[in-house]
Amino acid sequence: MTQPAAPLHLRPARKSRLNGTRHVADLRLAAKRRLPRSIFDYVDGGSFDETTLRDNEADLAALRLRQRVLVDVSSRDTSTTIVGHKAAMPIALAPAGLAGLISPHGEVYSARAAQEHGVPFCLSTFSTCSLADVAAELDDPFMFQLYIFKDRGVNETLLERAREAKCSTLVITMDANVMSPRHRDTKNGLIVPLRLTPRFVFDVARSPSWLIGWLTSQRRTFGNIQEFVGKKADLGSCSAWLKDNYKGAYDRDDLEWLRKNWHGKLMVKGLLDTEDARIAVDLGADAIAVSNHGGRQLDSAQSPARALPAIRDAVGDDVELILDGGVRTGLDVLKALGLGARSCFIGRAFLYGLAADGEAGVIKTLQILANELDVGMAHTGVSDVSSIPDGLVL
Ligand SMILES: Cc1cc2nc3c(=O)[nH]c(=O)nc-3n(C[C@H](O)[C@H](O)[C@H](O)COP(=O)(O)O)c2cc1C
Repeated sequence: MTQPAAPLHLRPARKSRLNGTRHVADLRLAAKRRLPRSIFDYVDGGSFDETTLRDNEADLAALRLRQRVLVDVSSRDTSTTIVGHKAAMPIALAPAGLAGLISPHGEVYSARAAQEHGVPFCLSTFSTCSLADVAAELDDPFMFQLYIFKDRGVNETLLERAREAKCSTLVITMDANVMSPRHRDTKNGLIVPLRLTPRFVFDVARSPSWLIGWLTSQRRTFGNIQEFVGKKADLGSCSAWLKDNYKGAYDRDDLEWLRKNWHGKLMVKGLLDTEDARIAVDLGADAIAVSNHGGRQLDSAQSPARALPAIRDAVGDDVELILDGGVRTGLDVLKALGLGARSCFIGRAFLYGLAADGEAGVIKTLQILANELDVGMAHTGVSDVSSIPDGLVL
């Protein structure tokens, strides 16, 4: 087993440089300017022809909201809870593998931004900063997203690390049986196991500020995985280990095992089907993230906006649903609530902010979404996100 990494010494938050930025689409363009092409595509892209990736955004954008004017909305409350976590608005940061490639110590900075804004953060198994790194920087509890490994001992250790980090919610991602081809990544030479292909080296060499950030970062491997890999646990050897040890093909036994071994809240992420949702609830899921992995897995899968209402009908009102995929504006959040979600995960929306301006960029994303949500509530007669009127979405 490797030694635990030395504690991080990170700078305090600073003011955002993104003064003229008005919406998440601007952050995406700023991210595109700052990142090497291959890293931008890793964030921005989806699987196969990216049909589902496009649908996720388009299906939310196509929904219309019911405008109401003769309703008193002089005070508006966006606060709620997300799987028991207090949240200043119905948004949580979705798990994102290798956020440290996007910006040095990306997971810790994103988690700090989430805490600053009062929304929950979820750490991926495949993060660069470890559970301990994030726990050391946060006062609030956070969520941990688990991928399952062939060796149950590895899974047990990860659960133990999550308990030590005081995670209250475990998120199990179930739509990653196999990794779907992402043509942009293949073309850019970003392939697993990660190694330095000439195309990738040429690409990152053209972004010196990104390269310096990465080379001087204190975390440049899979922070939660390195203890299983041994001495030379760099990005390449960890990703080779992951390829051999990742379980894939999850089934209900895995969920049953987890429910027995994790006593906190359990969220199942990556469901789109009513039958799967019923099974997950029968096996003890407290919440479901209705999701297709941001269009990164089954291309031609339904968008969460389309799938969610049927899942709401199938599982009833007591099961918490999180809409995950395609959320780019505060109005999208309002639409998700109108469809029956209690909250949303955001993925790329905060990753663009992280790429554009680190911690301050993630805060910027959250400020933009909060403002848009508030304005949307004022125009639709919604004074409290916990009591959404019927017929909000037309
Ligand atoms: C760069 C990137 C890395 C991701 N890594 C993970 C991961 O490690 N675990 C996971 O469950 N989902 C992962 N996802 C999916 C997100 O958690 C989330 O489902 C998706 O981003 C939602 O779609 P959106 O980006 O349109 O908001 C990742 C997404 C992106 C963009």
